[in-house]
Amino acid sequence: MKGVILAGGKGTRLYPLTRTINKHLLPVGPEPMIYNPIRNMAACGIRDVRIVTSSEHMGQMVGALGSGSDFGLNFSYSVQDEANGIADALRLAEHFVGNDNVLVLLGDNVFEEPIDYFVDNYRQKQQGQGARVLLVEVADPQRFGVAALDEKNVVEIQEKPECPKSNYAVVGAYIYDCRVFDIISHIKPSARGEYEITSVNNRYIELGTLQYDIVTGGRWMDTGTFESYYEANCIMFEKYRKEMGVE
Ligand code: DAU
Repeated sequence: MKGVILAGGKGTRLYPLTRTINKHLLPVGPEPMIYNPIRNMAACGIRDVRIVTSSEHMGQMVGALGSGSDFGLNFSYSVQDEANGIADALRLAEHFVGNDNVLVLLGDNVFEEPIDYFVDNYRQKQQGQGARVLLVEVADPQRFGVAALDEKNVVEIQEKPECPKSNYAVVGAYIYDCRVFDIISHIKPSARGEYEITSVNNRYIELGTLQYDIVTGGRWMDTGTFESYYEANCIMFEKYRKEMGVE
């Protein structure tokens, strides 16, 4: 399985913190935010990781992360010229992924604990086919992609709905087979002009090949707003203090 970390976008919701610094290089606890998805890739047994970011931030990203050898990983990089959406950013990794499967992590999603169970379940239950998404129950589903569920399956995902059909947010961790690139080539931009990852996931639902897990063992944080960014810092700094044995 290959890994892709998406770290483009404009980060406008965190201005002026992100005026010159890429959002994913801002600190969360004692480390840059993007270390969290990087460490997750390593915990999931993935070695080859493509990092996608904007042309504006590519220099600082490569300067901060280098070849990946500090993490025991092999990094390569793609430039996304315009922030045209998450699916558009993933499209840039098509040749890198080839015929393999791919774990996609959004660079602004932080997990308190590794999500290796998610990758293990894909390997064991899906025999390398289809898509797998990760859900978490939240109090404010309107901010996220939201999964409507029946007894067994996700039946639909709505992107930032005004009237959510559940409290289950789809978090920024997705596993796909290599068909994802053909699917991306057929989706249309949304009303906000972006190629949405939710459109990709809904296509896998139509094909009957999308399964899911629920986040277990540790909290999940989206750092997209000042409040959630602050909360992620508190949680990850507290975790660091415990690990260091600091009173
Ligand atoms: O955090 C989980 C949510 O992430 C999901 O529930 C939503 O379904 C999904 O659409 C996404 O929503 P956001 O509004 O939080 O996405 P955002 O535009 O903040 O982008 C998330 C990350 O994706 C960001 O850290 C950088 C990357 N990205 C985003 C865009 C729009 C890119 O690399 N390129 C892009 O063009």
